[in-house]
Amino acid sequence: MNDNKKQINVGLIGIGTVGGGTWTVLKRNAEEITRRAGRPIKITHVADKNLDLANKVVGNDATITDDAFALIKNPDIQIIVELVGGVGIAKNIVLQAIENGKHVVTANKALLAKFGEEIFAAAHKKGVMVAFEAAVAGGIPIIKALREGLTANRIEWAAGIINGTTNFILSEMRDKGLTFADVLKEAQRLGYAEADPTFDIEGVDAAHKATLMAAIAFGIPVQFDKAYIEGITKLESADIAYAEQLGYRIKLLGIVRRQQDGVELRVHPTLIPEKRLLANVEGAMNAVLVKGDAVGLTLYYGKGAGAEPTASAVIADIVDVARLCDSEIAERVPHLAFQPDALSTNLPILPMGEVLTGNYLRIRVEDKAGALAKITAILAEQDISIDALLQKEALSKGETDLIILTHICKEKAVLAAIEKLEKLETTKGKVQRIRREELL
Ligand code: HSE
Repeated sequence: MNDNKKQINVGLIGIGTVGGGTWTVLKRNAEEITRRAGRPIKITHVADKNLDLANKVVGNDATITDDAFALIKNPDIQIIVELVGGVGIAKNIVLQAIENGKHVVTANKALLAKFGEEIFAAAHKKGVMVAFEAAVAGGIPIIKALREGLTANRIEWAAGIINGTTNFILSEMRDKGLTFADVLKEAQRLGYAEADPTFDIEGVDAAHKATLMAAIAFGIPVQFDKAYIEGITKLESADIAYAEQLGYRIKLLGIVRRQQDGVELRVHPTLIPEKRLLANVEGAMNAVLVKGDAVGLTLYYGKGAGAEPTASAVIADIVDVARLCDSEIAERVPHLAFQPDALSTNLPILPMGEVLTGNYLRIRVEDKAGALAKITAILAEQDISIDALLQKEALSKGETDLIILTHICKEKAVLAAIEKLEKLETTKGKVQRIRREELL
C-alpha cells in the first residue's frame, strides 16, 4: 500500500438510519476498507439537527455540529456524504458542496431524479464526483453493474423490484389473502413503510430509481418528469388470486426498455410468470433483472433499504472517490456511464401510448349468451390478440368474472379497447387492467 497517500476526510450530513449505519460499518471495517482504498478514510465531521442523536452515535470520535454548511465550507473535508434526503435543503447542500470543490456521495434518489441534470453538470464543471450507488436498490450494486460491469453491452432493458415497502405489501396480500389496507397498516407497524407512505405505494420512489437506471443504461438525460407512474393502491386481492391461477405473480416493477425510436420509462404493477426468479423475490427484498445484448440476462438481488445494507453502498462510493479523487477527470467513470458530451439526443422517453406490453384484463360481465363474443370483437378491432382466457363460475346476481391475457400490444390500443368494453351493456363496472411482462 502507498503509505504516502493522505487520509481522506469525510463530512457526514445526516446521522439517521443510513448515516448511523455508515458510521458503524466504516468504523467496524476500517482496516479492510483502508487496504482497499489505499488510504485511510475517516468521518471527521458529522452534522445533524438532532445533536443528542449525533452524540449518542458518534461520541467524541468526530466533530459534531448542527450546521451542515460548516462542513461544506471546511477546507479539510474532501467528501461530503449527503444523507438528509428530500429535495429541499439537500439540494442546497449538494450544490454548494460541489461549488466548494467537494466530492459528493448521496443516497438521495428523489434529488437526483428531479435535479440530476443540474447537479451532474455542476459537478462536471467543477471536476468533482457525485456518487449515488445507494440511491437505487440500497445495498445492491446495480449502478456499478450497469455503469461498469455491463459496459460492453447495448442494454436492452432492465426491470426491477426497487421498492421494498410495496413488495412487502404484495407478498403479504398474496400469502395471507389480506387486503391492501390491512397490509399497509402492518407495514407501518413493522416500520417498513413511512408514516406517510405515499411515495412508496404510489410508485414515485420506484420511479425515481427507474429514472436513474434509464439514464445510465441508455446514455440519456435524467428525465423523471417523463416517467409513467402507477402504484399499487388499486390492486385487489382477487387479481392477485386470479393471476396466481394463471401462473403469474403481481409485482410493482420499474421498467426501462429501449425501443427503436425511444425509451420506455415506467412503473406499474405487473404480472410476471411465477417461474421467473424475479417473481419469487418476497417481502422487503429488491431485485433487478438486466438484459444486455452480449451477456443476456443478469439478476441482482439483495436488501434495498436498511441501515447497513444502504451503508454498504454509501461506503463503496466513498472508497471509489478516495481512489480516484487525485486522478484526471478523463480517467474517472462518467457520472451517468456515458461521457457527458455523448448522451443520446435521439432516444426520447416514449409517450405511454407507444409502450408495448402484454395485459391482464378482468371484466365483470353479465353471464349470458353473446357477452364473450362482443368482447373478443372489440379486442380484434384493436388488433389485440388473446393469449389465455379464464371464466370463473357464475357469481351471484348472474354475473361472472372473465379474465383475459393478451399478447403484446400498444398501450393506446388497450386503452381504446377498455373504453369500448366498459360501454358494453353486458359489462358491469370498470375493467381491471394490469400490464404483463414475460421478461425473456
Ligand atoms: N422506501 C424505500 C423502499 C426505501 O421501501 O424501498 C429505500 O429506498
